[in-house]
Formats: sequence, structure tokens, C-alpha cells
Amino acid sequence: MGKVISVANQKGGAGKTIFTALIANSLVIDFGRKVLVFDVDQQQTLFDIRQEDLLMQKDFPYPIQALNIRKLPSRIVELVEDYDVLLIDQPGRADDESVVEVLMICDGVLIPAVSDKNDRYGTLGFVHLLGDIQKLLQKEGHLLNVLAFVNEAEGRIEEKIMEDFCREINIQVMDTRISRRAIYARYNTYKSYISGPGYELNPVRKEFESFMKELVLKFNL
Ligand SMILES: Nc1ncnc2c1ncn2[C@@H]1O[C@H](COP(=O)(O)OP(=O)(O)OP(=O)(O)O)[C@@H](O)[C@H]1O
Ligand SMILES: [Mg+2]
Repeated sequence: MGKVISVANQKGGAGKTIFTALIANSLVIDFGRKVLVFDVDQQQTLFDIRQEDLLMQKDFPYPIQALNIRKLPSRIVELVEDYDVLLIDQPGRADDESVVEVLMICDGVLIPAVSDKNDRYGTLGFVHLLGDIQKLLQKEGHLLNVLAFVNEAEGRIEEKIMEDFCREINIQVMDTRISRRAIYARYNTYKSYISGPGYELNPVRKEFESFMKELVLKFNL
């Protein structure tokens, strides 16, 4: 039975799509997992990037399915036995009940948390929502593993405030922070940042490797 993990935050531009792709690339290439990615954002960014990548590369480590989020719960039921990890790139909103419905059937939710003054309220609201969902599910005996990580870290005090807030409401925070580096914005849907051609030169290799190890451990992937 595969693990269903959402990468989610109602805050737009938090890093959901980038990290869905980079995590999927690494899970397949570095950890040997069988992965399926769902792009349920109406913008279909990840699906479009895969179409572009198809021009560069013929063999892909995992499939990406684009579909309407309302159809996702039944698609997961159909496919959950066929993969080790089903990774969902969520849209940047939480006002639609189908977003909440999907979050409730996940094993894990990974929240890229941005902490800039202008951006942090969206993230804080979302972390709070996940805390409430987690408590609700716990009463029904379903364990939802919620994990937040600081994205675009630059060593600012705001990052610590964000982490403290998460911990206060019992949301786990990753030890590894992800820095703001142009290489992250230049992601694709087939390359690992940990191994493979040219990986030694990748400036975020160490950071991303520790991020992946921690993620695999904490979500038990
Ligand atoms: N760690 C990072 N380093 C550098 N740039 C980053 C990083 N994380 C995010 N970005 C920037 O933020 C932009 C948005 O990232 P991404 O598309 O992954 O966000 P998103 O949460 O999926 O957004 P949306 O809510 O619109 O789907 C990227 O194009 C990139 O410029
Ligand atoms: Mg996105």
C-alpha cells in the first residue's frame, strides 16, 4: 500500500511545485521508490514542465497525471496499491472543500513555509488549519503526519518565529531548512540533486540530501 503525501500550502508561490518535482526525482533515482505524481492545480505547472522536459529526455523516472482535484480521491483508491509513494502538488488555496477532502485522506502533508512578513500570514493560517484537521482525524483513529519546513531560508529571525509557531500548535518542523538559491527555481522533472551526472557541482547537494533523508525517515517512505 503506497503512502499518499500532499505538498500543500494555501500561500501561493511557497515552493509546492518545485519541491514536489525535486522530491519525486530523488525518491525514484536515489531511494529506488516507485512514484506517481498528481498535479491537481488548475494552472498545471508541473504537467506543463514535464511536457517541456519530454523534448530533452525520453525516459522519465515517474509519471505525472494532471486531473481535477474532485476526481483525485477515487483515482487514489484505484492506484494506491501500484506505487510506493503518491505525491500530490496541491493548488495554492484551501477555500475549496475538495482541497480539504484530499488533505484528510493523506498519510502525510508537507508544508513549505515561507516566513517573509508579507507572506507569512497565509502560511500561518494554513498550518493552523492542518493542526485542526490533524486533531479531528486523531479522534477517528487516523494519524495524519504533518511536517513543515522553512523554505527560502536566509537565517532571518522570521524563520525562527515561523518554526516556533508550528511547534506551539504541535506541528513537526524539519531540522533541515531549504535556502533561497536560483538552482531550486531551475528544477526539472527528471534530475536528482544528490546523484547522477554533474551532481558534485550542485551547490545545494548537501542541503538537499539531508532534506531528503529526513523526509524519508519522518514520513517513513
Ligand atoms: N528555495 C527556493 N529558492 C529560490 N527560489 C524559490 C525557492 N522556493 C521557491 N522559489 C521561487 O518561488 C517561485 C514559486 O515556486 P513554486 O511554483 O514551487 O510555488 P507554488 O507554491 O507551487 O506556487 P503556486 O501556489 O502558484 O502553485 C519559484 O518560481 C521560485 O522563483
Ligand atoms: Mg504550484
